[in-house]
Amino acid sequence: MARFAIGERDFLLDGEPHRVLAGALHYFRVHPDQWADRIEKARRMGLNAIETYVAWNAHEPVRGSFATDGALDLDRFLRLIGEAGMHAIVRPGPYICAEWDSGGLPAWLFRRPGIRLRSAEPGWLAEIDAYLDHVLPIVAPLQIDRGGPVILLQVENEYGAYGDDTAYLEHLVRRYRGGGITVPLTTVDQPTDDMLERGRVDGALLTGSFGSRVPERLATLRQHQPTGPLMCSEFWDGWFDHWGEHHHTTSAEDAAASLDELLAAGASVSIYMFHGGTDFGFTNGANHKGAYKSHVTSYDYDAPLDETGWATPKFRAFRDVIRRYAPVPEEDVPTAPAAPALTAAFDRTVALSAVADRLGEELGPFDAPPAFDDVEHPRGFGIYAAPLDGRSGVLVVGAVRDRAQVLVDGVPVGVLERDRHDHALRIPAGRRLELLVEDRGRVNYGDRLGEPKGLLGPVTLDGLPVTGWTVRPLRLDRLTAADLGDAAGTDAGAAFSIASFDLDAPADLHLDTTHWGKGVAWVNGFHLGRYWARGPQHTLFVPGTQLVAGTNELVVLELHGFRDPAVRFVPRPLLGQVEE
Ligand code: GLA
Repeated sequence: MARFAIGERDFLLDGEPHRVLAGALHYFRVHPDQWADRIEKARRMGLNAIETYVAWNAHEPVRGSFATDGALDLDRFLRLIGEAGMHAIVRPGPYICAEWDSGGLPAWLFRRPGIRLRSAEPGWLAEIDAYLDHVLPIVAPLQIDRGGPVILLQVENEYGAYGDDTAYLEHLVRRYRGGGITVPLTTVDQPTDDMLERGRVDGALLTGSFGSRVPERLATLRQHQPTGPLMCSEFWDGWFDHWGEHHHTTSAEDAAASLDELLAAGASVSIYMFHGGTDFGFTNGANHKGAYKSHVTSYDYDAPLDETGWATPKFRAFRDVIRRYAPVPEEDVPTAPAAPALTAAFDRTVALSAVADRLGEELGPFDAPPAFDDVEHPRGFGIYAAPLDGRSGVLVVGAVRDRAQVLVDGVPVGVLERDRHDHALRIPAGRRLELLVEDRGRVNYGDRLGEPKGLLGPVTLDGLPVTGWTVRPLRLDRLTAADLGDAAGTDAGAAFSIASFDLDAPADLHLDTTHWGKGVAWVNGFHLGRYWARGPQHTLFVPGTQLVAGTNELVVLELHGFRDPAVRFVPRPLLGQVEE
């Protein structure tokens, strides 16, 4: 069996100096039938390792039910890496950031009494120990010294940017070792003195996350750790997008030049991302730096392999750099061919109000609106309702997390947007008040980790409390037309529209949402994610592995109304305007 260790200046593979050339590829952002393809393409760029986080909340959305099948089959993903002749780096968190909902923490955690996230508080430690009881038995047998691909395991994630509870990090180190992890451990932090010191822990190699100013960053790392290999564990080669902003890209030349500097300095690297993939369903996270900004559905990241899995100019620029330092396979990776262009028409529309009772049970009554978390609704949409008894006036809510369409007697009267800091709306007189509330994704970085979602009270109308609330959490993780029954017809609110389209053969597609408002879409039951006219993103990636030769079904939940109700699949992704 091979051995992987930390030497004086290098990683050592069976005693010989070894440079890690890794690329990030998150299994939970790529359709499982496309994992092998992406791994093979990483090999062809000259990489010798794949790095992945583990997304706890994807595996365990409900406490005590840890799923490891299909898209969550981490064991299979790691084995595929091994079969490609590559090494694997695992970053099981428990916190992972990653622009992923809550940085990977399941929503049910936040309701545990007295819990203090990412600390040595006993309640938190008990929960993460139970989580690691699921993860470590998958990873441990696949370590390199037991014949598997895993060479490194990361402790927490950029902990120095969050806390200074060293006892917590020490607990994690003990827990990993106790769970059979024998490969070297690492920590990662942005290379500032402060963060590196707060994030480090005895028994783990200190590594950095950065994408530029390479000599300076490596020098800082070296100051904090006089021996051991230098490693950039997140070489940022692109960036992510928020709704309502431009699409981020970085120059392939500049990124390649920085990669060259890293490799020339003898450092090891993990490229973040090699292939970003997609935040399918309701899995995207958000940032909050004075204002709430959620991440778009695409996690293309302007990475070497684009969201669809094809080589970009950055792929070739990186491969050219890597070739100067390491052998690179002969086989090429093509650039994206045009995807099939086709059109279809919606042939049935049904109001959300007509089918809501099929999608979730109405809970209540409650004096004040419960948060989604109070009714164990992990993510997505819920409908809040309360009697108005003929009253009108200014409706004031404590907080809307993160967007509410307000209806009076079924008629939309306005929208409250968290990112506009909306709290108040004048409403007309009516009998029934309804708010269709969307959790647009939980904050994944900083102090707001774990904040509640849904409608937060108190809610008042002209200063008087609104009481008698019900809430209906909607189950939308998978959805087909059959789930909606035979109903048809619209009222003024949100509605589902259904179309079918024929394919000669399955192929990756780009669903054009340019002329739609805001909503979510499913193909053959699979949740493609959110779309929004705000952009920057104006197409949704449809993995061909989710399609069939013959007739396929599209279901769209449009919250407001289509500017143009045509269904179009276009040849190229439209990720939006880049900054000039
Ligand atoms: C940090 C985190 C990553 C990711 C990147 C930005 O480095 O560790 O999970 O959030 O920032 O893409």
